[in-house]
Amino acid sequence: MQVTQLNGPQIISTGSATPQKSLHNEQIGEIVDTSDEWISTRTGIKSRKITDNKVGITSLAVEASNKAIEKAKIQPKDIDLIILATSSPDDLFGSASKIQYELKATKAAAFDITAACSGFVISLITAAQFIKSGTYKKILIIGADVLSKWVDWSDRRTCILFGDAAGAIIMESSNMDCILSSSIKTDGSQTDQLSLTANSTISNPALQLNHRYYNFIDMNGKEVYKFAVSKLPTAIADCIKNANLSIEKVNWLLLHQANERIINAVASKLLLPQEKVISNLSKYGNTSAASIPLALDEANQKGILKTGDIIIMAGFGAGFTWSVVLLKW
Ligand code: UT7
Repeated sequence: MQVTQLNGPQIISTGSATPQKSLHNEQIGEIVDTSDEWISTRTGIKSRKITDNKVGITSLAVEASNKAIEKAKIQPKDIDLIILATSSPDDLFGSASKIQYELKATKAAAFDITAACSGFVISLITAAQFIKSGTYKKILIIGADVLSKWVDWSDRRTCILFGDAAGAIIMESSNMDCILSSSIKTDGSQTDQLSLTANSTISNPALQLNHRYYNFIDMNGKEVYKFAVSKLPTAIADCIKNANLSIEKVNWLLLHQANERIINAVASKLLLPQEKVISNLSKYGNTSAASIPLALDEANQKGILKTGDIIIMAGFGAGFTWSVVLLKW
């Protein structure tokens, strides 16, 4: 879409970061009753990257952001806003401010968005609103999660799935709007199907004072699976229709990387051929808010995304939330 003023959001660069350490399916088979064969066939995951003990999302996010900043050929002080999508911040009050400090992006406002695996797409849609309104001109959008630290490593239903990573993009105002259509959906009645809830314990019995801590990730995998496969195709088809496009015009499908079977089922419902599907979860597992920008950066680095390509990005997960953005590269 042509816009009259310089307030059309455009993605001008991407970056990503993953920890050094890999954890292969066979290694998980040594600690819980599972196998490479089960994990590969049910999920498509072969391996994932895991952060060391004291490493959290901040350092991964800073590394991914610095790469995106460098590729955009801008300075950190040029950034007006930092939006961090994460559900595993290093600080419950938010980690975006620390990232702003470490990047030396002194002019940028910064805040976190918590929406699990939909977080990155929701953040991208939010950032686009700030550009379209003329409020900001350069926005750094980050998706970063370290869910390996929040799984119960004795629970084979969940510990096989998650890995750690960060991905980042720079969005800039231009005379073209790259967002063709978008949607954000929530079904709060399903919150209990996938959660990382707080718990509390009495710390002073006399005064009945308590303090909170967090449980491990709890998931009803089958229900999450059914939700994703039933809701995403409709939400994506609606976005394509709202942009007055047809599915044939779509060049790439980039879904949240949770399960290869989910990705393939959604692609097949949309009648999108396999060669249009971007997938890298075999190497990284489910990296939550990082999965879409990580795969986007990888595709961008490979040079497979061409100017003018139509890309569907869709996140889904806890909440339940699901969000779709249709964009022109
Ligand atoms: O970011 C969004 C987050 N989450 C998701 O997207 C998850 C969506 N769901 C899924 O990806 C799949 O439901 C899973 C991969 C989690 C599970 O696959 P499934 O095909 O739905 O398996 P299931 O839960 O129906 O379990 C089938 C069997 C069960 O045994 P029985 O009851 O048939 O004897 C499980 O106990 O597989 C067993 N099982 C395992 N076996 C070996 C469950 N986990 C494992 C495991 N290794 N890791």
